[in-house]
Amino acid sequence: MTELHNDLFLRACLRQPVERTPVWMMRQAGRYLAEYRETRKRAGGFLDLCKNPELACEVTLQPIDILGADAAILFSDILVVPEAMGMELTFGAGEGPKFPAPIASRADVERLPVPDPEQELDYVMAAVRAIRRALAGRVPLIGFSGSPWTLATYMVEGGGSKTFSKVKGMMFNDPDTMHLLLAKLADAVAAYLNAQIANGAQAVQIFDTWGGILTTRDYREFSLRYMRRIIEQLTREHEGRRVPVILYTKGGMGWLEDIAASGCDVVGLDWTIDIDRARARIGDRVALQGNMDPAMLYARPARIREEVRDILRRFGHHNGHIFNLGHGITPDVPREHAIEFFRAVREESPVFHR
Ligand code: CP3
Repeated sequence: MTELHNDLFLRACLRQPVERTPVWMMRQAGRYLAEYRETRKRAGGFLDLCKNPELACEVTLQPIDILGADAAILFSDILVVPEAMGMELTFGAGEGPKFPAPIASRADVERLPVPDPEQELDYVMAAVRAIRRALAGRVPLIGFSGSPWTLATYMVEGGGSKTFSKVKGMMFNDPDTMHLLLAKLADAVAAYLNAQIANGAQAVQIFDTWGGILTTRDYREFSLRYMRRIIEQLTREHEGRRVPVILYTKGGMGWLEDIAASGCDVVGLDWTIDIDRARARIGDRVALQGNMDPAMLYARPARIREEVRDILRRFGHHNGHIFNLGHGITPDVPREHAIEFFRAVREESPVFHR
């Protein structure tokens, strides 16, 4: 395997010393980049892009070249897993994802297979291998998956939702069926992430985008429990290095202590908590990733830089910080603002590591 030239991200995940704070951004390959829109057009559509390893590799590398990101993240989507379990998935232009035949009964859940990722998700594995080859050791590659609960929300609602009436209805009225669904998803996700690692992913992130809509009790029982079940099954060392696991629950800042005890290496923060408060609560048991408000990228560049400096100052002179946004970048952010965000972290962070 090629030597890794920039391993700041992996070192920070393991709370080892670094010369400056590494930075990447959720959704860093996306519509705010004209280059991304151009490649997506060549692919045909969003799902076609996900299923074309060569073009998925191309968009994965765009933010490395344009922004100087310290990590690449596999270009794909969390919803390819339910699709590989046999559920039809569509992404209409300008619309969110849709499952035209959502999960509605226990029989529907019982029928779902746990897919073999090397078969049904072979195009993802081909993309992982192509990206590692193309990166040639420039920066590490992050693989990812949705959390079982977050995947279940889309599978039961049939798409995005404001009320989550169906998925919460199933959770309250038929908890056994919900547990069966979540257990199947946890095993499918564990196999999927292990296959990404076997094919070259050097860290993995679990996106629990909708864990934050639950009560504390339900979060523990229906979301965190199944993320632990995944983490217990994961390959933790590959190619002679530890493979860090990042757990990100949007809206989960009330449960940081529980998340930090899940077995993950890194806790992903959303933007609703000050990072010094997060660190005071969970100490240095895990690294922290985050957590600038994504909307700050609409501010003028000087204000973005001020915010970056404030977050660095709050984290202070410690190991174990990966700079990121608190959620994904939005499509209408000016690219110059994204570039300034990365430049600011590169320029302002070295003084905190001397
Ligand atoms: O971070 C990255 O650059 C890697 C790529 C990535 C995408 N989706 C590409 C994408 C990742 C990590 C995801 C994860 C994902 N997908 C999540 C969890 C993270 C989060 O943002 O909370 C969720 C909930 C999904 C499901 C999904 N995919 C939705 C709800 C949507 C529509 C909303 C939107 O932004 O349009 C998508 C589409 C999607 N996934 C796009 C991209 C770049 C935009 C589609 C396009 O290019 O037309």
